[in-house]
Amino acid sequence: MERILTGDRPTGPLHLGHYAGSLRNRVKLQDTCDTFIIIADVQGLTTHWETPEMIKVHSREVALDNIAAGLDPERVRIFLQSMVPQIAELTVFFGLFVTVNRLRHNPTIKTEARQYGYTDMTYGFLGYPVSQAADILFCRADLVPVGEDQLPHMEVTRFVARRFNELYGPVFPEPKALVSEVSRLAGLDGGAKMSKSLGNAIYLKDGPEEVSAKVMSAVTDPARIRKNDPGHPEVCTVFSWHKAFNPGEVPEIETSCRAGSIGCVACKKNLAAVLNRLLDPIRERRAAYDRPGVVEEILGAGTGAARLEGEATMEKVREAMKIDYFGGGS
Ligand code: TRP
Repeated sequence: MERILTGDRPTGPLHLGHYAGSLRNRVKLQDTCDTFIIIADVQGLTTHWETPEMIKVHSREVALDNIAAGLDPERVRIFLQSMVPQIAELTVFFGLFVTVNRLRHNPTIKTEARQYGYTDMTYGFLGYPVSQAADILFCRADLVPVGEDQLPHMEVTRFVARRFNELYGPVFPEPKALVSEVSRLAGLDGGAKMSKSLGNAIYLKDGPEEVSAKVMSAVTDPARIRKNDPGHPEVCTVFSWHKAFNPGEVPEIETSCRAGSIGCVACKKNLAAVLNRLLDPIRERRAAYDRPGVVEEILGAGTGAARLEGEATMEKVREAMKIDYFGGGS
């Protein structure tokens, strides 16, 4: 059975962009793969070190988002990055052969540094792709379902695995990224990618009215002034969302939009109904698991299982790196 590792940084609640880009894939793959889900709280702290209480709150929320989206906590190991010490250990060792320039030229690091307005970068922020390699390799994962913004990090992970094996012997598989078809969902405001910081997202935990209100306020084709003006679906956010969440109706919507026979209001109402149908079972599962202690117990069990994997990996790493002074283990 192939092993999957993926996850999120707990800097805010998960939205439909996460769902289309990764969660939906995870849920499908859990049936055929051995799955680990990381709540990357340490990575969250690389940008939010001044608000650790916020990261703590969202760690629980993001775990709940994953479970609500349909990941089965009986089969999947959901765990906290900071509570698996072998990930921190591996980060130190991997850092030995990843150069500063490789990290400085990483396009995702560059984009994020710009977004956060960093004129200088902390060692931890610049190095988080190395720590992400440790997130993936500590359990010797084969596949990593991610959005396309993560591909530069996957290159670092693959480099680390290859280089480690060359230097010290074959310990790690070279994991493959699995990018979903919809890897970038437009924000409701049109252009940009959906994200928390831009305030243009629909969250998995939004209620039905909130979802409808957000969809009704979305930007459509600016050239359509009157209801029966011919539309241009290729420039319309609402149409791109139909493609992501309502593929069955897409040909019909496209034809009637171009002909001007369906108005934007009707098209949005349809989308809101589709999204609420998708979100209803997610809301139900959230309500079922959102009880005191339940998520904590799931995270505790998942973290325990992750540590065992980490210990097994560290035994191989220590032996390969000749740092098994007292007979191996950690
Ligand atoms: N960097 C990822 C993101 O921002 C989160 C993440 C941390 C991750 N560790 C990971 C994703 C390991 C996949 C595998 O979304």
